[in-house]
Amino acid sequence: MLTGKKILLGVSGGIAAFKAASLCSKLVQSGAEVRVIMTESATRFITELTLQALSKGPVYTDTFDEKNPAVIAHIDLADWADLVLVAPATANIIAKMATGLADDMLSTTLLATQAPIMLAPAMNVHMYQHPAVIRNLAELAARGVMMAEPGEGLLACGYVGKGRMEEPESLVRIVQAYFERQERVNAKPLKGRSVVVTAGSTVERIDPVRYITNDSSGKMGFAIAHAARELGAEVHLVIGSTQASPPVGIPFTKVESAQDMYNALLAHWDEADIVVKAAAVADYRPKEQLNRKIKKSGEEMSLELVKTVDILESLGKRKTSQFLIGFAAETHDLEKYAMDKLTRKNCDLLIANDVTAEGAGFGTDTNVISIFDSQGLVEALPLMSKEACARRIMELAGERLTGDLSL
Ligand code: CTP
Repeated sequence: MLTGKKILLGVSGGIAAFKAASLCSKLVQSGAEVRVIMTESATRFITELTLQALSKGPVYTDTFDEKNPAVIAHIDLADWADLVLVAPATANIIAKMATGLADDMLSTTLLATQAPIMLAPAMNVHMYQHPAVIRNLAELAARGVMMAEPGEGLLACGYVGKGRMEEPESLVRIVQAYFERQERVNAKPLKGRSVVVTAGSTVERIDPVRYITNDSSGKMGFAIAHAARELGAEVHLVIGSTQASPPVGIPFTKVESAQDMYNALLAHWDEADIVVKAAAVADYRPKEQLNRKIKKSGEEMSLELVKTVDILESLGKRKTSQFLIGFAAETHDLEKYAMDKLTRKNCDLLIANDVTAEGAGFGTDTNVISIFDSQGLVEALPLMSKEACARRIMELAGERLTGDLSL
């Protein structure tokens, strides 16, 4: 199932390094071509000879030990790999990757590679919960590094908790799932589909210098637009106020208020196959919009607000063949509010995130989302980059649209 796939296995120095032997063997048995890099510390737990015999190739430990004079080993391996899998990934190699340190063969190759990287962290539970490790993992996840999260159980140090490296069998399944996902992307399941995505926040003017808005950065909407294009769709963005830059090459309409956003969406409505409402729309706007700056007077002032158009709800009512995806940012009772919004706004999918969760919500590069349909929870995804969340959402939309649930 991994036939012809080139996997560069990085082994760093933790007790779980002994599992790398079984992992290497199982990857080879699945048809993968495996090359191995070990850190100096990893060689204290398991010998190079073991991994050499199992991978049927040389094992690299030293950046200066150039086995083939025709190439520079760390660049050659970095370019060769379809996937770099670091298992186990210790707190040390995770920290080096997060800061971009390159002081041995493995860290140097990790910096040189453009191949996707997957980590299988393994460490003591207290190390795994250390703020530095949490920050480093979040930084790597935001860069698109994939994580095979450690399991819970009895650790080698005697503690019971999270930190045990994912078992080799399930790591092989995770690697297979990754390559299957890549094949789906390459198959361009959204080819010929028109996708309209809203991103950022709306701005509701009070007077020429003041307005009501919110913290949405636009990153999630931009990631969705990028993912839709990668899957082959024709994409149009409707952008409110944002701090991030839109993906290069995707046409867009800039808007300010909820009403502007609604009008821009209607202009693309008839040809749209999928509409994604990732923008954070103001629920209320000032009743009056003044042409002149309001002057200060008195100790108190009140602003009369009226409801804005609920864009998603209105589109939900107009829906014919369009596939409608809504978002919900919640702080509590996630499922209850998500299902309520999905029904009320007649969405096909609703993406909910608990903005109080670590690494989720406005402004971050990562997100923790749960996807709902009319039947309830479809998938609850772990902490991952907004790009990875976006890919999964658009894949799912593609499956639902074509009715091909094998995708
Ligand atoms: N939305 C919209 N128009 C509005 C308000 C929200 O299209 N005037 C869309 C958002 O783009 C999002 C979804 O509705 O996709 C949910 O937004 P949210 O603000 O969470 O929902 P509300 O219905 O406003 O609910 P509440 O503020 O009470 O949580």
